[in-house]
Amino acid sequence: MITMFPKRACRILVFAVLLHAIGPAPVFPSPQQTTPATSGKRTVQRNSGDPWWRHAVIYEIYPRSFQDSNGDGVGDLNGITSRLDYLRDLGIDAIWITPIYPSPLVDFGYDVADYTAIDPLYGTMADFDRLVSEAKKRNISVIMDFVPNHSSEQHPWFKESRSSRTNPKRDWYIWRDGKGPGQPPNNWQSWFGHSAWQFDPATNQYYYHHFYKEQPDLNWRNPEVRKAMYDAMRFWFKRGVAGFRIDAVSRLFEDPDLHDDPIVPGRNAYGDPNILHKYTDNLPEVHEVLREMRRVAEEFPGSRILISEADEPNISELTKMYGKNDEVQLPMDFQIADVNKLSAPDFRRLLDEVENNPAGGQPHYFFSNHDQPRQWDRYGDGEHNDQIAKLMAALLLTPRATPLMYFGEEIGMRTTPPARQEDVQDPIGKIGWPEEKGRDGERTPMQWDKTKNSGFSSAQRTWLPVPSSAAEYNVESESRDPNSILSFYKKVLALRRTEPALQHGSYVTVDRDNPFVLSFLRKNIGKGNSILVVLNMSAVPQTIKFDLASHGIKDSSAEQVIASPQLGPDAAVLAHFTMPAFGVFIGAVH
Ligand code: GLC
Repeated sequence: MITMFPKRACRILVFAVLLHAIGPAPVFPSPQQTTPATSGKRTVQRNSGDPWWRHAVIYEIYPRSFQDSNGDGVGDLNGITSRLDYLRDLGIDAIWITPIYPSPLVDFGYDVADYTAIDPLYGTMADFDRLVSEAKKRNISVIMDFVPNHSSEQHPWFKESRSSRTNPKRDWYIWRDGKGPGQPPNNWQSWFGHSAWQFDPATNQYYYHHFYKEQPDLNWRNPEVRKAMYDAMRFWFKRGVAGFRIDAVSRLFEDPDLHDDPIVPGRNAYGDPNILHKYTDNLPEVHEVLREMRRVAEEFPGSRILISEADEPNISELTKMYGKNDEVQLPMDFQIADVNKLSAPDFRRLLDEVENNPAGGQPHYFFSNHDQPRQWDRYGDGEHNDQIAKLMAALLLTPRATPLMYFGEEIGMRTTPPARQEDVQDPIGKIGWPEEKGRDGERTPMQWDKTKNSGFSSAQRTWLPVPSSAAEYNVESESRDPNSILSFYKKVLALRRTEPALQHGSYVTVDRDNPFVLSFLRKNIGKGNSILVVLNMSAVPQTIKFDLASHGIKDSSAEQVIASPQLGPDAAVLAHFTMPAFGVFIGAVH
């Protein structure tokens, strides 16, 4: 299947590392600073010197699909509020909610018609405030999605802009003359297919849109646009949001001289010639904007964060997103997300690279989101998917990083694309069918229980159907099964909170030449035990000869903390460590 968001996707997020903790936030005390560590033999007091997000687990919520509270078949804010206890019990510190602003919903919210209001479909501003305050009571921070690259064509700014060539808002968007009659200004292509230029007969010019034609690009070279957008950020910061996930941020600028993008061999899923987005992506001015956004975030107390969605081609490009600790704190790592095969050498190399990024930035890992098929299918082999789901959970949650989960991955939700073209909701699936089925498959409703619509909604018809796999994979059933994917996530999430080595230990790969098994230490020498993580990425048992003495480990075997499947009594002897197929081991060593 060709996915719309392969390697160089348009997903973008920004985050920069704070070297010094800013004191506890009066607006939203950080969970790590206020939550006593849970009990257990490795109980730890959080290091109050760290900014809250450094140890946080962030959970992405696609609001249309999480919980419907009013029976219209679409999820909403009160629905999210009603599920906060679930998120707290799971071990989540922050939720990122994809756009809930008023929108004609051409791109399901990523076409914003008002940056400082709530779409009535999702509720009211009072519902939003209640969500933030109820979340705060549970030590959960709320992160908004911010869509700076483009607005909706229905935004009053664009309506004004298109009304005449002399309107004061004309220059808020990118308007150009065509090359000739019926000819766009150049060959730039929309990420969602065909020309990126749309002719507007009212003023006889073209406007630029990196995404759908209903999503005109804002002109970030205009200082008034910047001021308006930064004021929108301030609006939400004042309401207590902990930060922003910044959408498609590498697309903010285009070459002012309109050079054609280079054409490369082949055609995309829409039948267009393949091009390199050389003149429309990652222009250096992006970093100037990120620095300005960071300064806006720092006007507010409590270590507000910026997360960038930027599908950078390699780690050195990704590293630039940290700036000099003055851009984003958390750039989403699409390199790791999109390895798309269980390859110990690939993960080892990429994890090492990010770990050693020259900016010293905090890694930010994820595997699934609302734009790409779920990890259960992308990493599963069709036979051991549930076991592999646990392996991916350990891979996400045990390295030194701020992990980002996508709703439903904790119960092993799978991708369920529409079977018929007429059922497709996502416009890219309508344009690209059948080669590109769109993103509906990874946006299906959350599977809570075995009741009607799996507990998501009381409606006759939900906006996307609940997959039949919900009968088996749902929160209620999995909560009762100690061996379920959900129970495994809970155990590892709880361990992250209580285990000093997982919080503060350095990340060191071991057994580095193993082609099948990824092993690493979270080293905490001199301060307590270290943690050894062993992940067998192959379908056959593997035996490993660990030599950890050079890392200061004196033990001859590891003490099992979490393992799936459970290992026998002699399996964890370091000199002769036996791992079952796709086995996961997390153990303590001294
Ligand atoms: C980002 C969003 C995606 C959206 C696109 C355009 O990549 O994650 O869902 O379609 O931006 O806003």
